[in-house]
Amino acid sequence: MTACLRELIPAERIQAKVAELGGRISADYHGQQLILVGVLKGAFMFLADLARAVRLDTRIDFVRLSSYGMKDSPQELKFTMDVSLPVEGSHLLIVEDIIDTGRSMAFMRQRLLARKAASVKICALVDKASRREVEITADYAGFAVDDGFLVGYGLDYAEEYRGLPGIFELKVDGR
Ligand code: IMP
Ligand code: MG
Repeated sequence: MTACLRELIPAERIQAKVAELGGRISADYHGQQLILVGVLKGAFMFLADLARAVRLDTRIDFVRLSSYGMKDSPQELKFTMDVSLPVEGSHLLIVEDIIDTGRSMAFMRQRLLARKAASVKICALVDKASRREVEITADYAGFAVDDGFLVGYGLDYAEEYRGLPGIFELKVDGR
């Protein structure tokens, strides 16, 4: 089995996009306190960069959802790690690596709104809109990508490639 990586989004383009998103978020939440909620593990690098690009009074939190394999079957979702900061009355911005079927973000948003967050918005680095199975739109979206399995900049395949500074499409022979 051989794996082949094709660079889709170089590190410089990611950094420019993060700066742009940070500017928009800073303007939109001006004067408000914001909690950035990163979805582990994939969003760790995006969150680290975004937090430095946002000029606001921010707090940082993380959640972890039940893991996503490469199978396309629908799966049950649950928090394997929950938000630790108080949700009620807080403005939350979910920081996600990729929106694919939309199930993870629909689940998270509904759960956080049920706990009376003041607002829940979504910032996703990559939006695979054509793969959507439930209706969900990112309030802030970095890059639109049609399809393909992506790795790098936090994204993994079987826990590999997370440390790459750019985003690559992974092709594995025999898939
Ligand atoms: P959704 O619930 O189908 O939208 O799944 C979103 C989650 O699937 C993301 O948080 C990613 O962790 C994972 N995912 C979706 N597409 C990819 C990919 O191309 N590479 C790595 N992870 C992915
Ligand atoms: Mg994820």
